[in-house]
Amino acid sequence: MASNEDNLKDVVSHAKEYGFVFPSSDIYDGLSATYDYGQLGSELKNNLKQYWWKSMVQMHENIVGIDAAIFMHPTTWKASGHVDAFNDPLIDNKDSKKRYRADVLIEEYIAKIEAKINKDVAKGFKRFGDDFDEAQFRATNPNVTRRQAQIDEINDKFKTALEADDLEGIRQLIIDLEIACPISGSKNWTEVRQFNLMFSTELGSVAGDASKIYLRPETAQGIFVNYSNVQKSGRMKIPFGIAQIGKAFRNEIIARQFIFRMREFEQMEMQFFVRPGEEMKWYDYWKETRIKWHNALGLGEDNYRFHDHIKLAHYANAACDIEFNFPMGFKELEGIHSRTDFDLKQHEEHSGKKLRYFDPELNEHYVPYVVETSIGLDRLFLAVLSKAYEVEKLEDGTERSVLRIPPPLSPYKAAVFPLTKKDGLPEVAREIMAKLQFDHNCQYDEKDAIGKRYRRQDAIGTPYCITVDHQTLEDQTVTIRERDSMSQERVHIDELNNIIDQRVNMRTLLLK
Ligand code: GAP
Repeated sequence: MASNEDNLKDVVSHAKEYGFVFPSSDIYDGLSATYDYGQLGSELKNNLKQYWWKSMVQMHENIVGIDAAIFMHPTTWKASGHVDAFNDPLIDNKDSKKRYRADVLIEEYIAKIEAKINKDVAKGFKRFGDDFDEAQFRATNPNVTRRQAQIDEINDKFKTALEADDLEGIRQLIIDLEIACPISGSKNWTEVRQFNLMFSTELGSVAGDASKIYLRPETAQGIFVNYSNVQKSGRMKIPFGIAQIGKAFRNEIIARQFIFRMREFEQMEMQFFVRPGEEMKWYDYWKETRIKWHNALGLGEDNYRFHDHIKLAHYANAACDIEFNFPMGFKELEGIHSRTDFDLKQHEEHSGKKLRYFDPELNEHYVPYVVETSIGLDRLFLAVLSKAYEVEKLEDGTERSVLRIPPPLSPYKAAVFPLTKKDGLPEVAREIMAKLQFDHNCQYDEKDAIGKRYRRQDAIGTPYCITVDHQTLEDQTVTIRERDSMSQERVHIDELNNIIDQRVNMRTLLLK
């Protein structure tokens, strides 16, 4: 499995060639940071949603799902703090005229030092094998300790500046670290300014501030404003959760790296309402539950790590990201945030409606605390696609492109082929298709030699290819060829539905 910048380019072109992801409005040369999911991409995306929804909503008795509108009353965003504080600090390079996120420039600088440390650690492993004591090496190796001290010092200064909203302090750090613009190579920076990320539009035909509404920058607020509706209509008892999958919009300053950072994207969020004082217990619970969910995908446990936020948002008393080893390195995939009672209290204040819970055990009313899990669906898609993609060298010296997508998530679960287009083989293959289609998305293909058909399915991640041949006519058996090992077995047609179902059912992930 490849994992570097080249891998991203290959993944992008593979995704386009096979109908997973297209640049949006492609015939007009695309629209920056906006993408369309093609015929296979939308299947994969739907399967990812299903995996999340099943595990988060349908397999938790105390979590329900909603589908709130994208447009919300404008006061929502005043109450949530997004109108005043949903900003990114931006900085321009005066020579290249390129705009950057000032915080990202510093984070990337730190990531480069971390990469050097990791290189030293990898060398140690190579040299000493199983005897290598990583913790001791990190604590004592002079190069590593010097670099770690450097990271700690930058982080301290960065945190102090962020917490004090000290934009000049952030700029000074960029100057002190001698960070150069990757385009011009110069260190000729403007001051740092705040930039609000919300898109706005007008409601109805009357222009002006009164009709200004926003495209939601997170789905979470649709959950908060429905807290009371759901709690009462669903007779929910604390602790309970409300989940939602939906579009969110952010006018990102730098939107690159394919579907990693887009201006229109999809989130899968869950707000878990708990007793005040119990939030840390649930924060730990959701960290553990969510990492287990990721690991079940089998993309490699080493490809995930937790990263505690160095600056907590004003509403949070604990927050971390689950980072994934994308082709561009470790980056945020999911956020887990203990949001206290901030949002519900703000909405109480701005709406004048009580958003309390009567706890019969404590015999008291309170505003619940909230622990949130929030994952970007498009980032999850990129994580799966980039780790699944491989150009494999075969024993006979040829190569094949293969997408090792976890079978329950693959766009097609099986492809059905008649070996030839005659002798009644297509009819039998069509009958098999007709039976499998009730439970699983399958593809029928009779064009080209069988080897070529296998390659086509490998390239789109179909885990099983079923071939009807002349022996089928005699003994009702077919071959099943497995994508990853390319091994084949012969089974009776009557067993097919069961076999395929056992291997590709979402259950196989949910049981892990
Ligand atoms: N309600 C909390 C919230 O929105 P966030 O960390 O800003 O938190 C949650 O976003 C997740 O949404 C991120 O972990 C990421 O996966 C995804 N996300 C955020 N901005 C994105 C963007 N511009 N493009 C794609 N995904 C994005």
